[in-house]
Amino acid sequence: MAQQISITIDGKTIQLPVLEASEGNNVVDVRSLIAEGVYTYDPGFLSTSACDSAVTYIDGDAGVLMYRGYPIDQLAKQSNHLEVCYLLLNRELPNQAQYDNFAASIKSHQTIDQQFRQIFNGFTQGAHPMSMIGSAIAGLASLYHEETDITNAEHRILTAHRLIAKIPTLAAMAFKHGKGEAFVEPDASLSYAENFLNMCFGTAGQPSSVSPTIAKAMDRIFLLHADHEQNASTSTVRMAGSTDCNPYAAISAGVSALWGPAHGGANEAVLNMLNEIGDESRVEEFVNKAKDKADPFKLMGFGHRVYKNFDPRATVMQESCHAVLAEKGADNDPLLKVAQRLEKIAREDDYFISRKLYPNIDFYSGITLKAVGIPTELFTVIFTLGRMPGWLTHWSELMSAPYKIARPRQLYHGESKRDYTDITSR
Ligand code: SDX
Repeated sequence: MAQQISITIDGKTIQLPVLEASEGNNVVDVRSLIAEGVYTYDPGFLSTSACDSAVTYIDGDAGVLMYRGYPIDQLAKQSNHLEVCYLLLNRELPNQAQYDNFAASIKSHQTIDQQFRQIFNGFTQGAHPMSMIGSAIAGLASLYHEETDITNAEHRILTAHRLIAKIPTLAAMAFKHGKGEAFVEPDASLSYAENFLNMCFGTAGQPSSVSPTIAKAMDRIFLLHADHEQNASTSTVRMAGSTDCNPYAAISAGVSALWGPAHGGANEAVLNMLNEIGDESRVEEFVNKAKDKADPFKLMGFGHRVYKNFDPRATVMQESCHAVLAEKGADNDPLLKVAQRLEKIAREDDYFISRKLYPNIDFYSGITLKAVGIPTELFTVIFTLGRMPGWLTHWSELMSAPYKIARPRQLYHGESKRDYTDITSR
């Protein structure tokens, strides 16, 4: 028997159907309310489902994250980022032939057009790489405008492969431009993560000297960031995509949303915060600032809209973090000591416990990326690189079924009607 709820408005009772989920919360379908002239109100969308999706499932209380039904800890231990890209886009894990064909397709699209790469010359050397990345992704539409028919499934797949393939190259170009160094071309003989690291830290014409441990840690960072259901940037991609814009425009909108320190910019903000704290002796001072309502300071890397016990990605990230620090001989890194003391205090303080504020993925990814030698300003670019398959999968999911343009309503508290007066009489 299909469930429903009743609500009574101005003496009239309305039945609202309850739609059943395959995992997690069922939802109340409020679409019929508009016919009654009634809006719902939920700024920040804390209890609003914006779509019907089959990509990723999160149980925030249980600390569960599954990509297409596969638990994140299993994928992190047994899979790799490219295989997860295939899984997200195609709903199933690939067999060997499917994986090899997918990997070959990605490798075939890794280069950046010689004329197009001039875009970086428009930026000063101090420019933040996220501004370069966002502009470059939007700019790719100018190169591929013949193949952006959003109703053409082949164009959608081609665009997804192009962006998954090109985002490491664009990210490395932004990094090299920022340092005033020559670009290192993509190397199809290297793995996805090794190729990215070589383009960032290698020298043109020289063989790769990337450590396998570091490459594995970077691949795991990409994989852990690959998708996260309807987070702010993915919802932005869906909202932009609902206007029928080209996929490069929709994805570049997601890049802009991710940049914020409350979202993907948090990993960079974590390092800036740890540097500002500077020493274990100052941790309590900053914890008290975070608890002070009069102080806008928040502990970057703590808290999450959905996870209320622990972020399963942070657990895996913490393991990678220690492996990288051990290899780099940096497990005595002063910033790690500050981070560990910060985590200990926050986990024991009632302010954080009562608000269910725990370290999220950004808390450990920042420290790991620093240990790998990634400059802080590139952290969110790496989040962008990891999240690319998730954005593309959600955009493709939206494009693959009928949809309406996203156009929320509002609770209006502005002026009532009043007549215009000439400036001479004001
Ligand atoms: C990501 O959504 C996703 O899935 C995102 C993400 C993904 O993979 O896409 O997981 C990636 O964005 C992770 C989050 C990264 N952001 C940070 O680490 C920035 C610091 N965290 C906060 O800004 C905050 O916790 C949010 C934005 C993450 C969540 O904010 P919510 O859900 O809107 O919660 P809230 O702001 O209403 O906070 C509830 C209470 C408030 O106190 P009270 O008014 O109840 O007294 O907790 C407090 C907040 O002031 N609080 C914090 C805090 N986070 C929340 N206090 C101090 N430090 C913090 N970090």
